[in-house]
Amino acid sequence: MKTSIADDIPLLSGPVQLSHSIIRTFVRNGDRVVDATCGNGNDTCLLAELVGPQGTVWAFDIQKTALEETSVRLAALGLEKRVQLVHTGHEFMYEYVVPTVSAVVFNLGYLPGGDRSIITRPDTTLRALDQSLQLLSPGGILAVTVYSGHAGGAHEKSSVFTWAAALPQQAFHSWRMGQVNTPANAPSFILIQKAV
Ligand SMILES: C[S@@+](CC[C@H](N)C(=O)[O-])C[C@H]1O[C@@H](n2cnc3c(N)ncnc32)[C@H](O)[C@@H]1O
Repeated sequence: MKTSIADDIPLLSGPVQLSHSIIRTFVRNGDRVVDATCGNGNDTCLLAELVGPQGTVWAFDIQKTALEETSVRLAALGLEKRVQLVHTGHEFMYEYVVPTVSAVVFNLGYLPGGDRSIITRPDTTLRALDQSLQLLSPGGILAVTVYSGHAGGAHEKSSVFTWAAALPQQAFHSWRMGQVNTPANAPSFILIQKAV
């Protein structure tokens, strides 16, 4: 898929593109990272490419079909050895992930092309976000794409924004981003960096 007008110019046409651009800046060869919402594997594949053969990606999803789809995509790219696909909720990531990690990526909401009633939910999302901050290395990032257009999405968005705004300023650089020329319920983006 063409993502830029020139190979070296990333397009910032939405939060996912913004997220990927930032992930590319922060994730290095050999890193450990987490995809907290594996879904169809777009973020997992990017992370697996960036961590290289010595790195590790943990990718969580509660839907087996999502992990199976991602497994096929990873195998096609020859990246499957770098990824541990975990069929459980991201609220249990602390039991699986070896600290520390340079990035944790969330893409909230429902699986595109899947069952729209299976969504991320504020209580488990906030538990997973708390664990993510514990797992991050100094300078590491937490990237969260947030959707508010589906049922339950607005509540989750306000929960995540409130959580991010309450983080201690000395410990975390907490950013809220959204396109100002799109509808109010367009997706938005939270970026948190653990202070060094
Ligand atoms: C918007 S999709 C993710 C898209 C994905 N990043 C991609 O690149 O295709 C959200 C995913 O979160 C998953 N999900 C919902 N609740 C979850 C939980 N508690 N833990 C992990 N994944 C969850 C859903 O099954 C769904 O696949």
